[in-house]
Amino acid sequence: MKKRIEQLKKQKNAVILAHYYAPFDVQEIADYVGDSFYLAKIAKQSKTDIIVFCGVYFMGESAKILNPDKKVLMPDLTADCAMAHMVTDGIIEEMRNKYDDLAVVCYINSTASLKCQSDVCVTSSNAVKIVKSLPNKNIFFIPDKNLGRFVAEQVPEKNIILNDGCCPIHAKITAEQLISEKEKHPEALVLSHPECEGDILTLSNYIGSTADIIAYANKSDYNEFIICTEDGINYKLITDNPDKIFYYPEPHPCCADMKLNTLEAVLSVLQNENNEVIVEDSVRIGAISPLEKMLELAK
Ligand code: 13P
Ligand code: SF4
Repeated sequence: MKKRIEQLKKQKNAVILAHYYAPFDVQEIADYVGDSFYLAKIAKQSKTDIIVFCGVYFMGESAKILNPDKKVLMPDLTADCAMAHMVTDGIIEEMRNKYDDLAVVCYINSTASLKCQSDVCVTSSNAVKIVKSLPNKNIFFIPDKNLGRFVAEQVPEKNIILNDGCCPIHAKITAEQLISEKEKHPEALVLSHPECEGDILTLSNYIGSTADIIAYANKSDYNEFIICTEDGINYKLITDNPDKIFYYPEPHPCCADMKLNTLEAVLSVLQNENNEVIVEDSVRIGAISPLEKMLELAK
């Protein structure tokens, strides 16, 4: 299957992008593997005719918005991020009416229609930097209350209004599970994604995006780590650090949607060129500006 994927990729001038949460064998054959921000940048720079995006729908959709003339295919179009929809109808308008100088800051884990209603997008690796750089005092941070709260702590000069959304996978990690891992591995450092709940972040030694967690573990002199994020990240962690040991809260956090990106599904979309991401022009035009503003402000 890997050989056939390689042949089709060349024949069709395609590139395969995969998120760190994709299955291991898919990360192995991908041309680029990274966090949401890196993958959005790579998609924007891509020169191929076809982009195969092994992630969840908002990622493929953002790639299409940034590359309207390219074919963006997803191994499984039903791979969705539950949090991307967690903003109540009318709440953005309500907040805009309440605060004159409001900036709506939208985590990239959101639908294109939410992006259309926002001023700027962010990812977990650039949210603090971008929020700090905005002139607005009042910020409505959607959809993730956990990333929003983490940003609010780093940028106390802003009034950050939180929205009641979260990632169900990260929210399932409990303090009890983490404490039990810490008791089993007292020498380990705890590295967590900011989508985790506040009590998990309080117990953590380092908080960052998936790419930041990997970079931290790679540089660290420690040998053992407890990782509070989706366990697909383990592929890159163990590849880069064969002598270090990585533990996860039990049961391991697992995003079933990300795991829909199987090798079989990658081969099938490359063969059939189906599962194309389509974004209507009206939506694309509304969503491109907050995405491009993110790419600019994060530089
Ligand atoms: P990253 O920004 O680290 O890629 O995280 C994306 C995500 O979906 C986390 O659950
Ligand atoms: Fe969305 Fe959570 Fe899955 Fe990330 S882990 S894609 S935030 S549901």
